[in-house]
Amino acid sequence: MTTLHPADRIIVALDGMAPEQALAFAKQVDDLRWVKVGLELFVQAGPQVVAQFREQGLRVFLDLKFHDIPATMAGACRRAAALGAELITVHACAGSEALKVAQAAARDGAAGAGLPAPTLLAVTVLTSWDEQRLQRELSIAQGIAERVPALAQLSATAGIGGCVCSPLEAAALRAQHPEPFALVTPGIRPKGAAVGDQARVMGPSEAIAAGASQLVIGRPITKSDDPSAAFAYCCGELRT
Ligand code: C5P
Repeated sequence: MTTLHPADRIIVALDGMAPEQALAFAKQVDDLRWVKVGLELFVQAGPQVVAQFREQGLRVFLDLKFHDIPATMAGACRRAAALGAELITVHACAGSEALKVAQAAARDGAAGAGLPAPTLLAVTVLTSWDEQRLQRELSIAQGIAERVPALAQLSATAGIGGCVCSPLEAAALRAQHPEPFALVTPGIRPKGAAVGDQARVMGPSEAIAAGASQLVIGRPITKSDDPSAAFAYCCGELRT
């Protein structure tokens, strides 16, 4: 496991906030280094929100989960990288050709803007799917336990730098893909935090021990009465 400062391992998901609120929130969290901009915030705020976070000294995970034909994936990844997003999600189901050109275009887009190449992260199977519905609605008979590593392998072979996965999948994926392949895991709850709508969760240090490279944490920090203290508490759990 590489040694990273705990604050570099925690990405705070800014969901359900208006743009001004998200920018103000991020500013008030002491030592915050990474934020996740999802579809809702991006659609409302536009691409400038990435630049605005960067002006605040923050690093941006742009979680727009691109899934399209290769040329469109490439164009979107090139633009996202040129904005300065350092982690960008794509759907593995877009296929190897789309993944390959997306990765190459992201590298070009960043280089053209004088920035380091971002890491593309593949989404394998959204956790909102279960096996019965995959079979019934999409005629996918493969079990999720086989499908996740198969799509992770497809992505890695296409040159994608990592995956978003459940912390419960991290150990198996890490065994298959050593570092520096990134494994970014949501579904994290520090001790004592409300589980909310997350069905299967893990603590921050357990997820890192299982092989996660970075953690996405939203509501345990964003809904806290004292977000700086909640963030510090999560960092503290990574030090113990
Ligand atoms: O508030 P919470 O910590 O549950 O937020 C987790 C973030 O990770 C949200 O942005 C959510 O959309 C995202 N996510 C997730 N589970 C997945 C994939 C993404 O919770 N399987």
